[in-house]
Amino acid sequence: MSAIINNIEIIKAKSTKINDVDFDDLKFGSVFSDHMLVCNYENGKWQAPKVTPYEPITLDPSAKIFHYGQSIFEGMKAYKDENENVWLFRPLDNFKRLNISAKRLAIPELPENYFMEGLKTLLEVDSDWIPKNEGSSLYIRPFIFASGNGFHASPADAYKFIICTAPSGAYFSGKVKVLIEEKYSRSANGGVGFAKAGGNYAGQFYPTQLAIEKGYQQVIWTDDNTHEYIEEAGAMNIFVRINDTLITGPTSDRILDGITRKSIIQLAEAENIPVEVRKISVKEVVEAAKNGSLKEMFGAGTAAVISPISGFGFKDEDFDIPELEETYASFLKKRITDIQTNKTEDPFGWRYEV
Ligand code: PLP
Ligand code: COI
Repeated sequence: MSAIINNIEIIKAKSTKINDVDFDDLKFGSVFSDHMLVCNYENGKWQAPKVTPYEPITLDPSAKIFHYGQSIFEGMKAYKDENENVWLFRPLDNFKRLNISAKRLAIPELPENYFMEGLKTLLEVDSDWIPKNEGSSLYIRPFIFASGNGFHASPADAYKFIICTAPSGAYFSGKVKVLIEEKYSRSANGGVGFAKAGGNYAGQFYPTQLAIEKGYQQVIWTDDNTHEYIEEAGAMNIFVRINDTLITGPTSDRILDGITRKSIIQLAEAENIPVEVRKISVKEVVEAAKNGSLKEMFGAGTAAVISPISGFGFKDEDFDIPELEETYASFLKKRITDIQTNKTEDPFGWRYEV
């Protein structure tokens, strides 16, 4: 069956999988809604997107994604309020960042209307998949990869832009302990660290596995040059609170410019929480942990929301961060999720109704 919404062709799935999903026990990103948005780049141009059933895709074994890793992605969430209205959070920022990543990976930039109209249409078609339970949302994964063929190590002549969605719960299931990395690097000056390139994540898996074997959940990357400064974690930006001041490192060539991070900085400033955006040395964090002035550490990201960090490891030593009764993390998490889910005013104009 085919229909048109917002000028976008929709090919409906023959049946729905929604009855197989337990919306009260959602993991992160492991079940997928009935449809996806597909948009192909061919003959030098992005072609009109379509909503199609969620299904496997066929690629030639020589497709450049397999050999040269030319791929980028985004992460977003849709929320449903108690009146069944559907909301996105700063979606144009994700669109802009997708094209920043595209440019760096020599992928043709995507037109805004294909992204926005395509996403809204997909959400209308799969609106039953957007969870309403507190702490759950529809995680949205827009991505672009090189589908064009050939072993020549050069940009492909064909790409696919796809958006698929997954009703999801929390990214981390328990307490988060992190290992401050002193050997491996996630990114380097002049590299692709600021882009959401698939390869940035593949490169983290091995050092992260080593950290997991030692009992940590994430690695905190340090600068590749000296390993003296904290940069970000594998899937989130990092904030530390020393006494009453909230500190996060500046973004750079090497760090993803997180949308949650910049929203938290603005929210904290509006709430008169002292915020500093400056380099944070590992030495400063270790000393603060030793003398008790390290009050909190947390990660911030779309998937992670705000995830408190209970302790960190550095050079074979473990440091616990004692739990406070009232934390910036829980205060800011409530502020941001209340805005995202339409439970409160949105003085910043971040919320976007679908
Ligand atoms: N840093 C990395 C490496 C990430 O993968 C993410 C997640 O998207 C973030 C930071 C947080 O970015 P955002 O808040 O835009 O989701
Ligand atoms: C997100 O937070 O949306 C991300 O893309 C992080 C990812 C590694 C789950």
